[in-house]
Amino acid sequence: MIIGVPTETFPGERRVALVPAVVPNLVKAGCEVLVQQCAGDAAGFPDSFYVGKGARVAATRHEVFKSADALFQVLGHGANDRTGRDDLPLLRPGQVLVGFLRPLGDPRTVVEIARTGAIAFAVELMPRITRAQSMDALSSMATVAGYKAVVLAAQILPRMFPMLTTAAGTIPPAKVLVIGAGVSGLQAIATARRLGGVVSGYDIRPAAKEQVQSLGARFVELPLAAADAEDRRGYARAQDETFYARQRELLARVVTESDVVVTTAVVPGQRAPVLVTADMVAAMPWGSVIVDLAAERGGNCELTRPAETVVARGVTIIPAVNLASTVPTHASQMYAKNLAAFFLHLVKDGALRLDLGDEITRETLVTRDGEVVHPRIREALGLPAKGG
Ligand SMILES: NC(=O)c1ccc[n+]([C@@H]2O[C@H](COP(=O)([O-])OP(=O)(O)OC[C@H]3O[C@@H](n4cnc5c(N)ncnc54)[C@H](O)[C@@H]3O)[C@@H](O)[C@H]2O)c1
Repeated sequence: MIIGVPTETFPGERRVALVPAVVPNLVKAGCEVLVQQCAGDAAGFPDSFYVGKGARVAATRHEVFKSADALFQVLGHGANDRTGRDDLPLLRPGQVLVGFLRPLGDPRTVVEIARTGAIAFAVELMPRITRAQSMDALSSMATVAGYKAVVLAAQILPRMFPMLTTAAGTIPPAKVLVIGAGVSGLQAIATARRLGGVVSGYDIRPAAKEQVQSLGARFVELPLAAADAEDRRGYARAQDETFYARQRELLARVVTESDVVVTTAVVPGQRAPVLVTADMVAAMPWGSVIVDLAAERGGNCELTRPAETVVARGVTIIPAVNLASTVPTHASQMYAKNLAAFFLHLVKDGALRLDLGDEITRETLVTRDGEVVHPRIREALGLPAKGG
C-alpha cells in the first residue's frame, strides 16, 4: 500500500498532511510513503527528514497521484475551494483519499469526487467517540486555532494582558471574554489565562460551565435557558431568532466591558449566530480586539468580513480563517498523528478493509464505487437513501 502526500495547494496553506516522525508507524504497518518534493518545507520538514525516516520523494504531483494507493491531504477538493478541483483528473477508481473535504459546505464537490471513482473519507465527519479521539483532526485544528486567536489579539491590543505593579504605576489586566467554550474556546481561555488576562467564558451548553471554571475562568451565567442546548453528539443545537436576540441583549454588558472577545459559537450545518452587534462594538473600549473564529461560517460579530480585518470605532475585528495553517509545524504534527491513527484503523494486512459495521469507517466514508454514500450528504443533495 503506497501512501502519497502531495503538496498542499490552497493559497497560503503551510501545513502538510504527514510529518516525518509519523512515517515509521506507517512503514511498520506495511505501507510505503511517497512525498511530493518540498511538500513539508513550509511546515519545517524538508525532504531529507522524510527520507531519513524511510519515505521516498517524488519530483511531481502527477507521480504522487499515479503511484499512490492512498492520498493524504490537509485540504482536499471541497475544503480547498480555490485549487482543489485541479486534482480531480489525477484521481482514479479505487484510490483512497483522506482529508478535510468540507462535505456539507457545498455537497456538489462530493459528487465530483465520487465521479472519479475514488474512495474518499472526510475527516471532519469523525464521530466524537472515545475510540476516535486519537483520529479527531477537527479537535486538533481547533486547539491550534484557539491558541493562535489569543496570540493574535495580544499582538494587536494596545494594552498588555497581565496585571503589573511597577515603579511606573499599576497596569490593570486585560479583560478577555470567550463566547463558545468548545475545543477552540477552551484553548483560547487557557491561553488568555497563561498570558495573565482576567478571563470569562460563556456557552449555551450547561456542561461547559465546569470546563470553563476548571481553567480558572469565570463562567458568564445568563438568565436564559436554551431548549435542548446539546445534541447527542455533544454539539450545540440551533435556537430560534428570539433566543439569539435575548442572548445579545444579555451579553451586551459583558462584551462592552471586554478588551478582547474571542468568538467561536457555531452550530453544525448552520450559519453562525450573530451574538456581537455593531452597537456593542461601538461601546467597547478603544483599541479592543475581536477575533471571530466563526468567520468561515458567517461570523458571530455583525461587523466580521470573511477576508478582511475591519477597524470600527477603534475596535479591530479579525476574521480568523484557517488559523491552524499559521502554526504549521505543530498543526501538521497533530494532523499527521490523527490521519495515521485513522488510516491504520482502516487498513488490515496492508489492504483497505471497509467495515461498514464500524462507526468510524461508516461516518467518515463519503464516496465509493462512483457514488456519494454518506446518508447526510445524500440527503443534502436530495438523493434517495442508499438501499432505500
Ligand atoms: N472525542 C470527544 O468526545 C470529543 C472531541 C471533541 C469535542 N467534543 C465535544 O464536542 C462538543 C462540541 O465541541 P466543538 O468545539 O467541536 O464545538 P463547535 O465548534 O461545534 O462549537 C463551538 C462552541 O460554540 C458553542 N455555541 C454554539 N452556539 C452558541 C451560542 N448561541 N451561544 C454560545 N455558545 C454557543 C457550542 O456549544 C460549542 O461549545 C463539545 O461538547 C466538546 O467537548 C468531544
